[in-house]
Amino acid sequence: MFEGFEMFVMFPDSQNHYALRPFDKLRGTFAQGPLTLQTFQTLQTFQTFLMNLYFDNCATSFPKPAAVAEAMVSHLNETGGTYGRSAYPRIFQSTKLVEECRDSLATLVGTAEGEKIIFTANATTALNLMIQGICKRGGHVLTSAMEHNAIARPLEHLRQLGWIEWELLESAPDGTIITEKIASKLRPNTILVAVCHMSNVNGMAQSPGEIKKAIGEIPLLVDASQSLGSHPVLVDEWGVDFLAFTGHKSLLGPTGTGGAFVRRQELVEPLIYGGTGSGSDSLSMPSYLPDRFEAGTPNITGIHGLNAALKNRPVPRHTRDDFADLLREVKTNNNYVVRCATDFANQGKLFSVVHHSLSSSELALRFYETYGIESRAGLHCAPLAHRHLGSFPNGDCRFSLSPYHTPEELNFLAKAIHDVGR
Ligand SMILES: Cc1ncc(COP(=O)(O)O)c(C=O)c1O
Repeated sequence: MFEGFEMFVMFPDSQNHYALRPFDKLRGTFAQGPLTLQTFQTLQTFQTFLMNLYFDNCATSFPKPAAVAEAMVSHLNETGGTYGRSAYPRIFQSTKLVEECRDSLATLVGTAEGEKIIFTANATTALNLMIQGICKRGGHVLTSAMEHNAIARPLEHLRQLGWIEWELLESAPDGTIITEKIASKLRPNTILVAVCHMSNVNGMAQSPGEIKKAIGEIPLLVDASQSLGSHPVLVDEWGVDFLAFTGHKSLLGPTGTGGAFVRRQELVEPLIYGGTGSGSDSLSMPSYLPDRFEAGTPNITGIHGLNAALKNRPVPRHTRDDFADLLREVKTNNNYVVRCATDFANQGKLFSVVHHSLSSSELALRFYETYGIESRAGLHCAPLAHRHLGSFPNGDCRFSLSPYHTPEELNFLAKAIHDVGR
């Protein structure tokens, strides 16, 4: 009955339940759909791999804590209520929860000033808000060689409009900004330095505190899309002026959530104008935070989910040493160039590989078809980073970890990388 099936993999489904799917050796694919209880009992006699093979958590994390969906369903089906407008218990309840989430995010980014956290739909919106809002004055902008298009495209758009000039800071081979060389790039009209905290291509984390020291009063905008939730973020200690984050990656919240920390709001013109439920007698946006940058009804249901994610962080199932072992193991294979931070102390939970002969998409296809491993092939929306690392325009194949991955799953990934790259 199971002739041709050689291994069994647990695939997470949309309800966060794992379904056992056999690998059909004859067809070279995984069988579709979960097995019945009866076949499951039979399969238990086989060697089974009960694994989470989703390694694309940098795109969006999966699975989420079960409490995320529960909180969202509860807001949609039971509690309801909008945010900060009118006065009846249902609204007080949902407004209180939004503010609770805002305060938790403030603590997480390293400040006690909750009102300086604003909600947006994602990091891209937050970055556009800051970049376009600051650059209205025109001037010179510095950024890094490792940027995602969420920073590079708004900058380039504003350059094409003739508002700004932008250029790259000097970086080490892994993309780390060389802080000693920042001063030579500063100009009297430099209005902004915008850099990612953690690269979404090789996982290298910059040192925002050192960058801020080097630029003094010039505003620093940090893109913490990949770091917040998996790496320490300390806006007050670093002196960061603006920080953008997203809810659906390492924070394990739902898509459609994100935001920014805004220290120097006087430097930013709003991008979106509209109702805030406050100061409605004026046709101008309120001057105070967070209202100034929160026109329109926020994603209240999503924020319920994000709040639940923050309260129900899973205990990581693997240690940093397990991750270091994985990287060490992959690096022993000479058929690959492994993209990671030069110093493991600056390494976030992702890395990528370039094979000497297989393209990134061929690699990702083989990982999926042979092992059920879901990875990401291509440029990862970060062409600047690939130019810097030398893999433009083909890109690489990226693996990004979740706190739910076990050491066994990391070992499985290491073996699969060896096998596919042979
Ligand atoms: C470094 C970086 N910045 C910004 C973004 C954009 O995040 P979002 O899609 O949530 O707007 C991403 C997403 O992959 C990213 O990796």
